[in-house]
Amino acid sequence: MAKQTKTQYECSACGHRSLKWLGRCPDCSEWNVFVEVRAKAAEAPPERSIRARPRGPSGSSRGGSPKVVPLSTAAHAVGGRPVAITSLPAADEAGGRVETTIPELDRILGGGLVPGSVTLVGGEPGVGKSTLLLQAAMAVAATGRRVLYASGEESVRQVQGRAERLGGMTGSLFLQAETSLDSILDGADGLDPAVIVLDSVQTVYVPELGGAPGNFSQVRECASRMVLHAKATGRAVVLVGHVTKDGKLAGPKTLEHIVDTVVYFEGDAHPPFRVLRSRKNRFGATGELGLFEMTGAGLIGVAEPSAMLLEDRPIERPGTVVTAAVEGSRTLLLEVQALVAPGFPGSVRRTALGIDGGRLAMLVAVLGKADLALHDKEVYINVVGGVRVTETAVDLAVAAAIVSSLLERPMPGSTFVVGEIGLTGEVRTVARLEQRLVEAQRHGFTRAVVPKLPRRFEAPEGLEIVQVATIEEVVQGLF
Ligand code: TYD
Ligand code: MG
Repeated sequence: MAKQTKTQYECSACGHRSLKWLGRCPDCSEWNVFVEVRAKAAEAPPERSIRARPRGPSGSSRGGSPKVVPLSTAAHAVGGRPVAITSLPAADEAGGRVETTIPELDRILGGGLVPGSVTLVGGEPGVGKSTLLLQAAMAVAATGRRVLYASGEESVRQVQGRAERLGGMTGSLFLQAETSLDSILDGADGLDPAVIVLDSVQTVYVPELGGAPGNFSQVRECASRMVLHAKATGRAVVLVGHVTKDGKLAGPKTLEHIVDTVVYFEGDAHPPFRVLRSRKNRFGATGELGLFEMTGAGLIGVAEPSAMLLEDRPIERPGTVVTAAVEGSRTLLLEVQALVAPGFPGSVRRTALGIDGGRLAMLVAVLGKADLALHDKEVYINVVGGVRVTETAVDLAVAAAIVSSLLERPMPGSTFVVGEIGLTGEVRTVARLEQRLVEAQRHGFTRAVVPKLPRRFEAPEGLEIVQVATIEEVVQGLF
């Protein structure tokens, strides 16, 4: 017993435990991250983890043995508690999603928030997490549902001020400025909201655990309790998690496995776009992408992203090429820019923004094989608009932009390029080519440079198709 209550030290970055305080974590090699925790409390989460007001005869999930129900009934259970088929509430309450009515957000979530689920919204400080979630909370409240917005970061006045700027408070939205998780759960039990927003999971704490809010144990414990709370009550919980580079706060990554849905704001707080992407979704597709613009009145969804991403495109300048990326259910036209500048052999920079650095290195090597002298050149790539592309379908556009900049020959402004490049310099076909061509044609492109097509391929009307088999053909034929 005595041994159990002994003080231990825990790495706030990765959770590694030690009996002694250490300057550096032997597991993740971070410096100065050990904090004191009380072993007993940390190992056995207290009974109080689940807090739900008993509802109806089926009661709360605490006490007694858990009920086992036939699957047909369980499928209609509300918040984990089986209810008689005959007394089912309206489909809406029985597990239908809570739409945030922000179309870009609902699409990423797969149609809205799922009752009883936990959604984690991650991103760097200042990227717009609080703004988006306050907007979502206000929109849900405007439909008449009760929403609790609990902030451990801002005072009620601050949140109110922001809400006013975003369009005014509605009666169903409740604010709580609180850092004690127990008080927040008490607040939720008193209010019985459909949605709880906790901003952020790194600023709340449970007193039983030692250490400051934001350390690994606190963040994990607070998130686990919110998961139990969501499952026990059927309330949809949204957790905000800051991504920090210095590792002082346990980041959202450490929570990905315990929540149902994870969405991230990509990149840092740079204009013009804020890209939100789903990384994990137990109730829908992942990889779905939402684009927002930060304005004086909060985040506004961008309905026609291709048009906006190409807005200020320089026409007929060397080093810029337009391509299309398929992100989730969306096709985006993107401008890829390349700058090839003289450097010193042996110490040239290769910088990629928006594409993978390794992929850029490979493309530069392939171009080198095709007799394009890049060994003494610096190469910078930027995908305009802050969009990060993981698809290899943009390879050909990246290569074409590099060639265009190197030769100082522009690609005609009406030309669109798509294709993957292999290690031997062959241009390979890409998935959903037709979808990309349709998007290009819709935005006024008249010529498309593509991989070799199957014989029976119908290109969209008005689009001249140029098929290329190798990177050499691109260099010789297009510039
Ligand atoms: P915020 O949502 O607080 O970011 P996070 O919660 O991710 O840390 O704020 C993002 C930035 O957006 C902040 O610098 C202020 C700015 N902003 C606007 O430009 N317009 C607005 O209407 C609001 C509310 C914030
Ligand atoms: Mg915030």
